[in-house]
Amino acid sequence: MTGMSAAIPVHELDLPPLDLDSNPDPEARARLITAAREQHWLAKGLFGYTVTAYDDVVAILRDKRWFSAASLAIEMSGVSDPEFGRNRRPSILGLEGEDHTRLRRLVAPAFSPRAADHLRPYMREVVNGLVDDVVEQGECEFVGAICEPYPIPIICELLGAPKDDWRLFSKWAGDLLKIFNFNLGEDYRLVMQASRELDAYSSTMIEQRRSQPADDLLTALIAAEEAGDRLSHDELLSMVNAVIVGGTDTTRNQLACCVALFASHPEQWRLLAEQPELAPRAVEETMRYLGAIRGTARFASEDLEYRGVLFPKGTFIAAGTAVANRDPSVWDEPHRFDITREPAGQPQLTFGAGIHYCLGASLARAELQEALPILAQRMPNLALAGEVTWKPAGVAIWGPERLPISFTGHQ
Ligand code: HEM
Repeated sequence: MTGMSAAIPVHELDLPPLDLDSNPDPEARARLITAAREQHWLAKGLFGYTVTAYDDVVAILRDKRWFSAASLAIEMSGVSDPEFGRNRRPSILGLEGEDHTRLRRLVAPAFSPRAADHLRPYMREVVNGLVDDVVEQGECEFVGAICEPYPIPIICELLGAPKDDWRLFSKWAGDLLKIFNFNLGEDYRLVMQASRELDAYSSTMIEQRRSQPADDLLTALIAAEEAGDRLSHDELLSMVNAVIVGGTDTTRNQLACCVALFASHPEQWRLLAEQPELAPRAVEETMRYLGAIRGTARFASEDLEYRGVLFPKGTFIAAGTAVANRDPSVWDEPHRFDITREPAGQPQLTFGAGIHYCLGASLARAELQEALPILAQRMPNLALAGEVTWKPAGVAIWGPERLPISFTGHQ
């Protein structure tokens, strides 16, 4: 008999089904979740089990026995070409244990709040330039006009790539992001091609920085050292890849989610324009209320026990960060959107939690904190100018596909 014998195997529980993927409407989702929670703290989702309470989501994400499902994405995609698997280095999100700790310790200083602050003037310049292009029209399709182009020049500046190369990065980012489309059978050649081109480009840049250090992320990563340990050339390439894959579509979609939300809360938009110092709170509150990433997946690396339930090795679990962000045990009136809300004492979970907590959180926060007050000031009287088309509920990085807005243009 093992110490686990008292725990009930998860498959023996009578759990409520929870199909969030086919239900994009946040209010309808909230009702489904409340109904499921009344039956059990665990629910049965499409691909495994789901936790929805704040404390459970945080506990699972902090528990190192649950491994990130990112490393399994390739195996689950059904791509059988062995070259594809061989050519893919593990990304930081797919590493666990000592391998992850080592890499994270080496790269974390390069992603500090101070490093992100350094880029704030440039972020304002980029946002203002994009607004200049549409401000006189008094209307635009916000995703195409502002969200799509915003993160790429920032990433180029962060890495130290010449500004003129943003089109190349845009193409690579677009192709690399296809890895999230669950259509890898068709897309993997494009993904591989983009990955090869980016590696070649990054390798040249790394060589240049080795002889001529500059004030950028790549130089910081090359110089990163701890107790004589350094990043290998492959690890440097993998980090550049992670920044592009992790840092573009997330920021775009989050900005679109934020503005869609403000479009239905005009008084909050006005408040932000009048009090731009509310920007940091506005970012936390919009990310809490409508996050572009709504959950993440883990699998049990061994037979493990949690809250008296036995999860056999290999069990999948979805940590529902978006629903946890509406947990009434953490936030008063969680379904109220209010950018003046006092901090709850516990963070919103759209950046995740635990060892894989978003490495780019300072950068993403800075990008949103700079963009939102500029937009609120230069696009007053924000309103929807048509229907918002949302991405399908099941996509990993979610937000409006199209967001037609109108406003009173301010130079
Ligand atoms: C609003 C924008 C963003 C959101 C909502 C977001 C969200 C997340 C989440 C939820 C995770 C954890 C995933 C998990 O535990 O399975 C994560 C990890 C990560 N993010 Fe972000 N992210 C954003 C922007 C960025 C940016 C700008 C960068 C790069 C500069 C970035 C780079 C990364 C990396 C490298 C990881 C993996 C960290 C690790 O495994 O240790 N993210 N992000």
